[in-house]
Amino acid sequence: CLISATSWAKDNYPTRPVTWVVPFAAGGPTDALARRVAARVANELGQAIVIENVPGAGGTIGAARVARAKPDGYTMLMGHFGYMAAAPSLYNNLAYDPAQDFRGVFRFPNTPMVLLVGKDSPFNTIEEFVSYARTNPNKLNIANAGVGSASHLMAALFMQRANLDVLDVPYRGGGQALTDVISGQADALFDQMNTVMGLRSGGLAKPLVQTTTQRTTQLPDIPTVAESLIPGFEALTWYGVYAPAGTDDEVLQKFLSSYHSALQDPEFLQLLQDQGLQLLSDGEETGAALDTFTRAEIQRWKQVIAAAGIERQ
Ligand code: MLT
Repeated sequence: CLISATSWAKDNYPTRPVTWVVPFAAGGPTDALARRVAARVANELGQAIVIENVPGAGGTIGAARVARAKPDGYTMLMGHFGYMAAAPSLYNNLAYDPAQDFRGVFRFPNTPMVLLVGKDSPFNTIEEFVSYARTNPNKLNIANAGVGSASHLMAALFMQRANLDVLDVPYRGGGQALTDVISGQADALFDQMNTVMGLRSGGLAKPLVQTTTQRTTQLPDIPTVAESLIPGFEALTWYGVYAPAGTDDEVLQKFLSSYHSALQDPEFLQLLQDQGLQLLSDGEETGAALDTFTRAEIQRWKQVIAAAGIERQ
């Protein structure tokens, strides 16, 4: 038969498990979300998706690994706005270019962020937190998942807009940061909504404020930053799966169709909503739309970082 090895490989893709690199430690919000979505997409794909945690430097180490991986459809990145849009404005020697070295596969729904304190924290409201921080500059330890992580950027934006001086404490992932907030080793953390749900019901942490313009259905009793402190404030974490530049259209198409099929399942939609995720409009989830969006976000974060005075590394 005259079919070439390459076209056989394309037509039958994937013939072995696909790796998604999560560039934070296991047990954090990115890891949790990636695993949930991967399990469902893998079902449609007919192959396993294996999560590999490559933590460090706010997600940039794992992202660099995928940028250099073979573009054969077997290594992809679970990306978020930190290392895929803000990092070029934060790191002087970034080992990859998010706009040039990747192709979007599909985009996830957005995740609101929530400022959390541990169960034994003296703060019960955002007003109490802000009033203490204002009269005690550089006393509060705010945990984050490294420079350019969602938790770091959200805290930096919030503190700058609220005119508060606090200390940043970096970890290798939101999971470790959260452990120290729960035990009282650190004072607070901007975490993603998907972690907050379980914590709250377990009584381990207290949410003080959320970053959506309107209160979410998941936390109807928790004020927004916009209503309590900074009018108009809105900041959500966005996620997308990326493949190395040079990956074939067929591979990207196969993943996008698998994701689309998963979205037809009401149980999967419910699972996303239970995680506090905010669904996108039709068309925003495609790889092509993700590429355009990523480029716009790189420009937007350049301005946000300059305005907030967040330091380069
Ligand atoms: C994580 O999964 O550890 C977080 O997404 C880190 C972050 O970006 O805050």
